[in-house]
Amino acid sequence: MSDTRETMRLGCCYYPEHWPEDWWADDARRMAEMGLSRVRIGEFAWSRIEPEPGRFDWGWLDRAIETLAADGLGIILGTPTATPPKWLVDAMPDMIAIDARGRPRRFGSRRHYCFSHPGYRAEAARITAAMAERYGKNPAIVAWQTDNEYGCHDSAISYSAAASAAFRRWLAARYARIEALNTAWGNVFWSMEYRDFDTIDPPNLTVTEPNPAHLLDWRRFASDEVAAFNRLQVSLLRSASPGRDIVHNFMGFFTQFDHHAVSADLDVATWDSYPIGFLEQFWFARADKLRYARQGHPDIAAFHHDLYRGAGRGRWWVMEQQPGPVNWAAHNPAPLPGMVRLWTLEAAAHGAELVSYFRWRQAPFGQEAHHAGLLRPDRVDDVGAGEARQAAADLAVIGPLGPAPAPVALLFDYPSAWGLDGQPQGRSFRYLELAFACYSALRRCGLDVDILPVDAPLDEHRLVIAPSLPMLSAAQAARLAALDVPVLFGPRTGSRTADWQTPPDLAPGPLQRHLPLKVVRVESLREGLEAAGDGFAIPRWLEQVESALAPEIALADVRGIVFRHGRLRYLAGWPDAALLDRLVATMAAEARLPITPLGDDVRLRRAGDRLFAFNYGPDPVDLAALLPALGQTAPLIGTHLCPPAGVAMWRVPHMAGQSGAGQSGMAGD
Ligand code: GAL
Repeated sequence: MSDTRETMRLGCCYYPEHWPEDWWADDARRMAEMGLSRVRIGEFAWSRIEPEPGRFDWGWLDRAIETLAADGLGIILGTPTATPPKWLVDAMPDMIAIDARGRPRRFGSRRHYCFSHPGYRAEAARITAAMAERYGKNPAIVAWQTDNEYGCHDSAISYSAAASAAFRRWLAARYARIEALNTAWGNVFWSMEYRDFDTIDPPNLTVTEPNPAHLLDWRRFASDEVAAFNRLQVSLLRSASPGRDIVHNFMGFFTQFDHHAVSADLDVATWDSYPIGFLEQFWFARADKLRYARQGHPDIAAFHHDLYRGAGRGRWWVMEQQPGPVNWAAHNPAPLPGMVRLWTLEAAAHGAELVSYFRWRQAPFGQEAHHAGLLRPDRVDDVGAGEARQAAADLAVIGPLGPAPAPVALLFDYPSAWGLDGQPQGRSFRYLELAFACYSALRRCGLDVDILPVDAPLDEHRLVIAPSLPMLSAAQAARLAALDVPVLFGPRTGSRTADWQTPPDLAPGPLQRHLPLKVVRVESLREGLEAAGDGFAIPRWLEQVESALAPEIALADVRGIVFRHGRLRYLAGWPDAALLDRLVATMAAEARLPITPLGDDVRLRRAGDRLFAFNYGPDPVDLAALLPALGQTAPLIGTHLCPPAGVAMWRVPHMAGQSGAGQSGMAGD
C-alpha cells in the first residue's frame, strides 16, 4: 500500500561526462527552472572515474555534483558496474559473460560481465566502496542506484566457467547428496543421472530440450546470483552512506530474476518506463500496436507501477521515463502530444515518489543518438521539456496524495514464470502475458490493483487473482483458501511440485484439499484452434477436469471451464478477454466491489481523496457519460470532454482513505 506524503518529485538522468563542463551550470539552472529536483548521474562513468587501474579522477565528478547541488538538485548516484572499462576486461578476460550458445559477450557496448565471476565481484565491490567513501556523506547525495538494469540485453544469465562452478556449489548446498538431486530432477529419465555435483553443467547446448527441473534450478541459481551481486553493493553503500535510499532500476516485462528477492535488500524499487518501446517489442496484437502506437497500451505503465509498488513494499519510483521516441525497438514512433505528461501524472496517481526522465539531453554520439531527451542535442527544449514543465505545474495543483490502497490483489510469482517458460507445452503459454491479461481485465472494470508476491499479507484485499501458480505449496494453498474473499486460480495452478514433477494426485495438487477437482489431461492449441463457450472462447490452453462439482461456466460441449467451491474458483484454460471480464464482474459483485466498465481506452486510479482518469485512446471521451456518479463535479485538472492523451482529476472527499470502499464513490451505488 502506498502513502505518498510529499508531492511527487520530478527528475532526470544526466551524463555530465558527455558534455562540455561549461554547460553544466546552465543545465542545472534549467533543470531547476523546469521543476526538477532530482538528478541521476554516474551509472556508466567508470572509464572517467578510474581511467587507469587504481588511478581515480574524482575532480570532474566532484565539480559536477557541486554544480548540480548548487541549484538545489538532490543527486542519485549510480555505481558504474554495468559498464566495466576496457582495461579491466583486458586484465581479466574471463569476467566476460558467455551466452547460451557458448559465445563470449564481448566488450563494445555494456553489461558484458558475468554475475558469478569472483574477480569481477571484487572489482564491483572495489569501485562501489571507493565511490561510497568519497560521496557517502556528501549532503547532495540523496540516494544510490546499484548498477543499471540487471539483466538488460539478456544479461542475467551467463554460461561461463565461473557460473558453472558457482552452480555446482549452489546445487551441492541445496541437495547435499547427489542421489537427492537425481531424484528431484528425475534423472533416471534418459539416463541423465550424475555421480557427482562437480560433473553437472549448465543446461545449454543440449541436443534437444534440457530437463526442465535442471533448467528451473539453473534459473533459481541465476536469480540468486543477481541478488547476491546486488546485496554486496547494498551492504557497502549502507555502511558508508547512512540515511540514503538505496535503489535499483528494474525493467519492463522482465522476469529473468526474482525482483521480490532483489527488492528485499533495497529501500525503493524503481523501474524504467518506455511504454511505446514495450508495446512495439512485446506480444501485443497488431491492432493494438497500431491503435496505441503513440501512447503505449493503456495497461503497460500501470502494470509495472503496481508490480514495483508491491516489490518496493509501497516505495517506488520511475527512474527512467520515456520523453520522446526511443532508439531500441523495431520501430520507434513519437509519443502523442501530451503523453509524457500523462505518463508522469499516472505514476503519481499510482503512488510514485519520483518520476525521472531519461534523459536530460539527447546524445549526439553513441548507440542512443536517436533516443530523445527533454532537450535536443543543440540544447534547445524538445517536446518532452514542455510536457515536464506542464507536469510540474499539475503536480503543484495535485499536491501530496493520500494513501492509495487497492482492493484487488494479483499474485505474481517469478519462479512460476521460470518453470512455465522452461516447459511451456505450447509456445503461446506465456506466464507474463497471462498475468497481464488478468490485470487488464481488472483495469477495464475500473478496479485498482496491487501486484504482490504469493506470500504477501492479503488482509486488506477484497478479491484475489492468481493467474497461475504451478508450484503452489500446501501451506500457500491453505492460506489462500482461508481468505474470506473471492479467489481465482488460473490454469496450471498446483500442476507441479517444487521439483517440477507432477504431484502424485495430479493438478491442482494441494489445492484439491480445498477445491475438489482434478485435472486429468491438458492440451495446447495453435492460433485459430479454440474451444467455444457462450460469448467467450478458450484459445491456447485447455484442461480436462474431473470433479463432482457442477461447473460454474461450461464450454458449448458442456465441459466445465470454471469451477467454484465457496469463495474459490479454478479456471481450466486460457481465458479470452470476454471470459475474464465476466469473471471479474462476477467476483467483484460477490466481494461487493462496484465496478465501472471502462472499455479499452480509459483508465482510472484513486489516491487519497483524488480520482484520476487517463485517456489512452485516439478519440476524445466524454467522462461525464462514462462516470455518471461524478455528476457535474468539475475536475480540478482537465475537462469532462477528455482529449486523446488527456488527464482529468477530481477531488472526491468521501473516497478518502477507504480501501476498496473508495470504489463505491465511483460507481454511484
Ligand atoms: C534503459 C537504460 C538506459 C538507456 C535507456 C534507453 O534500458 O537503463 O541506460 O539505455 O534504456 O531507452
